[in-house]
Amino acid sequence: MHHRIAVIAGDGIGPEVTQEAVRVLHQVAALDPGISFSFEEFPWGSEHYLAHGQMMPRDGLDRLRAFDAIELGAVGDPRVPDHVTLWGLLLPIRQGFDQYVNLRPVRLLPGVETVLRGRASRDIDMIVLRENTEGEYSGKGDLLFPGDAEREMALQTTVFSRKGVERIVRYAFELGRRLQRSVASVSKGNAMNYSGVFWDRVFADVAGDYPDVAHRSYLVDAAAMFFVQDPRRFEIVVTSNLFGDILTDLGAGIAGGMGFAASANLNPEGRFPSLFEPVHGSAPDIAGQGIANPMAAIWSAALLLEHLGHAGWADRVLQAIGRALADGERTPDLGGSRTTAEVGRAVARGLAAEG
Ligand code: NAI
Ligand code: MG
Repeated sequence: MHHRIAVIAGDGIGPEVTQEAVRVLHQVAALDPGISFSFEEFPWGSEHYLAHGQMMPRDGLDRLRAFDAIELGAVGDPRVPDHVTLWGLLLPIRQGFDQYVNLRPVRLLPGVETVLRGRASRDIDMIVLRENTEGEYSGKGDLLFPGDAEREMALQTTVFSRKGVERIVRYAFELGRRLQRSVASVSKGNAMNYSGVFWDRVFADVAGDYPDVAHRSYLVDAAAMFFVQDPRRFEIVVTSNLFGDILTDLGAGIAGGMGFAASANLNPEGRFPSLFEPVHGSAPDIAGQGIANPMAAIWSAALLLEHLGHAGWADRVLQAIGRALADGERTPDLGGSRTTAEVGRAVARGLAAEG
């Protein structure tokens, strides 16, 4: 099977870690005669903005549309305001391509230390699904009487549509059925007396279609506590945009940190390409030194493989990551002395060794 991949390496350490993700995909293709990739690089990001006044060309989405998937590094540059970089590239892609599932594995790989005392990899293994297009981050609202100290007020409108909630919840139950895992809904149905109650009602409706999948609802504050105290109870978590944003960073915190936080922005129906990226940013403080940890980017490439129908290879990439860690192939953020490229090559070698 041939796959066309668009590569937007972006800013800072983005190109450094993306190169290793692409290296691993090349290795998969080399080992499996049934898989081939072609990569096209798009030099979009802050340099493009500084040169042309736009993060990507006006027809950027049209140029990406025909690809099977998009691999992204990171965007962000001290010379450009962060809301410009975010709203100029990433958010237009997520929204324009209706990538309504933000999937983040929260999984402690063997050989990775957790800050939770006494926990091992079997205790922390969940998939968090965050609604990615509406909710608290709808971008709708107003600032009334700006600058008037007496009357000034900000309105930030939360938007939960029937379609929006139902499709992310249904995605969670389909995944639960396929993986034979339970589904936990996280909301705030007590204090959010309209949107939270609505979310819970839609969740219960959809759950009725999946009698074979165990499920449970949590209030977000309690869920945050259980993430730390008893992470084993979570297998698949489905939640709204804001709660998912916070819980997934908490998840990264208990599963080895940002060096291992991978993500997929999915358009499950495949009407548009999906986008795969490490969760971390462009890390300007270490950019250009060749010491960035590429594991999150490589893990994101594993999610890409899974999305394109190669779940077996996705597993093998994760095993190769674990093996490289066990062999001491660690960048300085993990206490090691390896370079980004050395770690990437070690993972690629590990894949070949299993092959
Ligand atoms: P950051 O994730 O870039 O860096 C935070 C800290 O973690 C830094 O000390 C950095 O050196 C370290 N770090 C991050 N990734 C690492 C890696 N792979 N290996 C080793 N160390 C790593 O977050 P920060 O500093 O808040 O933001 C920097 C820029 O990145 C900003 O312009 C921000 O807007 C942008 N950003 C972009 C994102 C994206 O493209 N999806 C996500 C988050 C931030
Ligand atoms: Mg976040």
